[in-house]
Amino acid sequence: MDRIRIEGGRPLKGQIAIGGAKNAALPLMAASLLTDEPLSLSNLPHLVDIATMANLLGQHGVIFGMDGSEAGNGGHAGRVFTLTAGEITSTTAPYDLVRRMRASVLVLGPLVARMGQAKVSLPGGCAIGTRPVDLHLAGLAELGAEIELKEGYIHARAPKGLKGAHIVFPKVSVGATENILMAACLADGETVIVNAAREPEVCDLARCLVAMGAEIEGIGTGTLTVVGEKRLHGATHAVVPDRIETGTFAIAAAITRGDVELVGVERAHIEAVEKTLIEIGVEIAETAKGIRVKAEGNDLVGVDIMTEPYPGFPTDMQAQFMALLATTKGAAMITETIFENRFMHVPELARMGARVNVHGASAIVRGVPHLSGAPVMATDLRASVSLVLAGLAARGETIVNRVYHLDRGYERLEEKLAACGARIERLKD
Ligand code: EPZ
Repeated sequence: MDRIRIEGGRPLKGQIAIGGAKNAALPLMAASLLTDEPLSLSNLPHLVDIATMANLLGQHGVIFGMDGSEAGNGGHAGRVFTLTAGEITSTTAPYDLVRRMRASVLVLGPLVARMGQAKVSLPGGCAIGTRPVDLHLAGLAELGAEIELKEGYIHARAPKGLKGAHIVFPKVSVGATENILMAACLADGETVIVNAAREPEVCDLARCLVAMGAEIEGIGTGTLTVVGEKRLHGATHAVVPDRIETGTFAIAAAITRGDVELVGVERAHIEAVEKTLIEIGVEIAETAKGIRVKAEGNDLVGVDIMTEPYPGFPTDMQAQFMALLATTKGAAMITETIFENRFMHVPELARMGARVNVHGASAIVRGVPHLSGAPVMATDLRASVSLVLAGLAARGETIVNRVYHLDRGYERLEEKLAACGARIERLKD
């Protein structure tokens, strides 16, 4: 298994290009199942999770074409995928693929809506919490699907097609909103989704569905109204910039007290993150190509954070901010309200000298003058990247193990950081 070696303590300076959002790309790819015509997606990131989704869709019968090199991403080829689900050859999503990536469950809504049936493995728990899919299933049941759980699989059937319904989610869920939104596009009549997730990735999916012929109102609000169509058609769509990658590299600039321009960002999507960084003492300014994040010579201070559904502070940035707050003056309280087990990075950060106490869903972080390098590992994507960030600031050498977590969600991470002066390399095993 590859590892990442970092020699910390160098302020980052330079430019980093932001890629397309993984969490937007995954549901967009699943949306290809809704039509027999080609769906062309540009600005796709090169990530293991994208390959896993491509494998899953491939075994449902989706045919892939790959093309293009988009400006702003280092000219790497293969940014445009054309997905054609001319014929669905299988409605089963097997355990072996679903267990590798929970987002696989996003094929459920489109398959039932188009084929009248689907058999999708239950994803099971994961490193950040139990993560049930009950809201996805309840929503589909309200659209008229018969749902049965048998031998680790979700069996969903709607032989006469789905019917529009008024669905009130008791809790905001990104994945459940996406699954029901896709299914509702081919349901008979009108569906209203109340308490829908408003994350930019959900809006990106909705806009692509509209381009495919869907009628959706309320995009970006908590109530989505969908009028079902008999069929959707092909479309072309560009994936939104990754707001979590943007935030992560902003922290890389801040934690090293550096000065970095992030190119190709969607600033409107990072308001909560930007506001928190400014409170901490980081300077952010708009440039012609994106934003400049500067902490060089600044006195940074601790602030309190609470994760919330969008537009609140994102849970996917919590671990990275904890690494930063471990290096700022004073104390900070971080409260995690989305996932029950998302402090797995705490003991590893502590091994690097961070002072963090966890009390239930909250963690008190007391800043220290210096972190120190250590061998570390983490159990999920954002926790792993928080250790890389801590390593960039720490004195001495940090080895981050289990790099495969990083490869799921950060493209050429070490290349992008090294281009700004970080001493970072991948050690191949
Ligand atoms: C998406 O996960 C993201 N993944 C996650 O990013 C992100 O952390 C999360 O949204 C929250 O923003 C993708 O988009 C692929 P949820 P998702 O359903 O859709 C509970 C990353 O690092 N819930 O919004 O699975 C759930 O347990 C990943 O890139 C139910 O109770 O998250 C959680 O407490 C990690 N029942 C809360 O809702 C359900 O049926 C929010 O989860 C569904 C969810």
